[in-house]
Amino acid sequence: MKTDLAEARYLAQIDLDRLPRHIAVIMDGNGRWAKKRLLPRIAGHRAGIRAVRQVVEACARLGVAYLTLYAFSVENWKRPHTEIKLLMSLLREYLKKEIPELNKQNIRLGVIGRIHELPKPVLRDLEVALEKTRRNSGMRLTLALNYGGRSELIDAARKLAEQWKHNGNFAIDEDTFSEYLYTRGYPDPDLLIRTSGELRLSNFLLWQVAYAEIWVTDTLWPDFTQKNLFQAIIDFQKRERRYGGLGLG
Ligand code: IPE
Ligand code: IPE
Ligand code: MG
Repeated sequence: MKTDLAEARYLAQIDLDRLPRHIAVIMDGNGRWAKKRLLPRIAGHRAGIRAVRQVVEACARLGVAYLTLYAFSVENWKRPHTEIKLLMSLLREYLKKEIPELNKQNIRLGVIGRIHELPKPVLRDLEVALEKTRRNSGMRLTLALNYGGRSELIDAARKLAEQWKHNGNFAIDEDTFSEYLYTRGYPDPDLLIRTSGELRLSNFLLWQVAYAEIWVTDTLWPDFTQKNLFQAIIDFQKRERRYGGLGLG
């Protein structure tokens, strides 16, 4: 990917020693992007894939360790059947095409969500992509698919109760509970980006974003570029994270 002069200027402002370890993104605004151009919504989703490629590549090059993208929520099944079908086929197309690129960039794919409820062909392609990138040791790219923060908490509580019944001899604290989430082993997101200006979480990573720095842009997802990503990271590095304490004063 080429970095133009304006982008290079942004890049120069980033302190590579203080990168967010985990960036999570609510990729929103594909439909509005298409509507503005009098195109069908799916054209917006297709254009959104270009933005995914840019952001994945830029994060991997920078050295971000975890990138988690909200691609399909448990609530998105409320959309018209035709849109869902096209979204699923776009996802399959992405998974198939992207494997060589992910391998070239040493990126390991992950998924979170109620994955087993996805259509069988999608599941199969996902399994192939997970398997083929399993040995990569670079960035962990996680797609949130059929994901809901509340369903994740319920699933965790169920698994925990199951385990408790089996052997209740363990403490239930924040660390133990985190082990039952889909994101087991991941650090919490440091930076949460949402595009297209909406000021809500839409059921994304409810537990994990407790102390994430939130960055919202009016830019619609298909228009999001590496320059926007650099801006978000620069702003993130200017924030003082206090975690309820008094900070540095
Ligand atoms: C985000 O774009 C992508 C998905 C939720 C799959 P939207 O489809 O929500 O686009 P808007 O919000 O209608 O513009
Ligand atoms: C959130 O966007 C879900 C994804 C980005 C996959 P939505 O467009 O579904 O969220 P709402 O409906 O605006 O809250
Ligand atoms: Mg939306």
